[in-house]
Amino acid sequence: MSADEQKRAVGRAALDYVKPGMVVGVGTGSTVNHFIDALAERRDDIAGAVSSSEASSARLRQHGIEVLDLNSVSDLPIYVDGADEANRFLQLIKGGGGALTREKIVASASRTFVCIADESKLVPALGSFPLPVEVIPMARGLVARQITKRIGGRPVLRQSFTTDNGNIILDIHDLQIMEPIKLESTLNDIPGVVCNGLFAMRPADVLLLGGSEGVKTVT
Ligand code: A5P
Repeated sequence: MSADEQKRAVGRAALDYVKPGMVVGVGTGSTVNHFIDALAERRDDIAGAVSSSEASSARLRQHGIEVLDLNSVSDLPIYVDGADEANRFLQLIKGGGGALTREKIVASASRTFVCIADESKLVPALGSFPLPVEVIPMARGLVARQITKRIGGRPVLRQSFTTDNGNIILDIHDLQIMEPIKLESTLNDIPGVVCNGLFAMRPADVLLLGGSEGVKTVT
């Protein structure tokens, strides 16, 4: 099975967590695109979707799925999203597509976070994938200096990229993340940081991993 076939398989497997009448939280990325395509078959069953990016909203609407404002939703039973890396505690690095802030908001609002990924994303320790940090543009230099001083690693500006919220992304390379919760909190404390791509304080609840032998569930 190719990586794309594995992504399609986990996207479809996540449908098992979608029950009639639910509002469904929807993440961003190539794996989630397969989930959205599968969800289209259930569009008359569900009460709509809350989306984490303009790209996912457009794809949902193309399939005739109503996109709801999170503020109008009092209960979000499920959130389905991909990851750039996952460890065995279901802590994640996300934001390779730059949608980390809205992803973290929707994940936090959800009762169950189902992460879908191909098996290459499961790693012994987070950090090989550069950690994305969304930053208010005027604080770019300050935040980069603070990261180097307080955390280490090598912050690199993501070129020609603006987030859906009008901000920039610094990707921190060369990190070995031994304490994900502490690092998530330390980054949040730097003035000018909007959000970082560590999902450790609110990890996934279920990880569906697509592999050559099918889909494995990790909880
Ligand atoms: C988007 O900002 C990311 O958090 C994605 O969820 C993550 O990059 C996974 O994307 P793929 O499914 O395309 O690998």
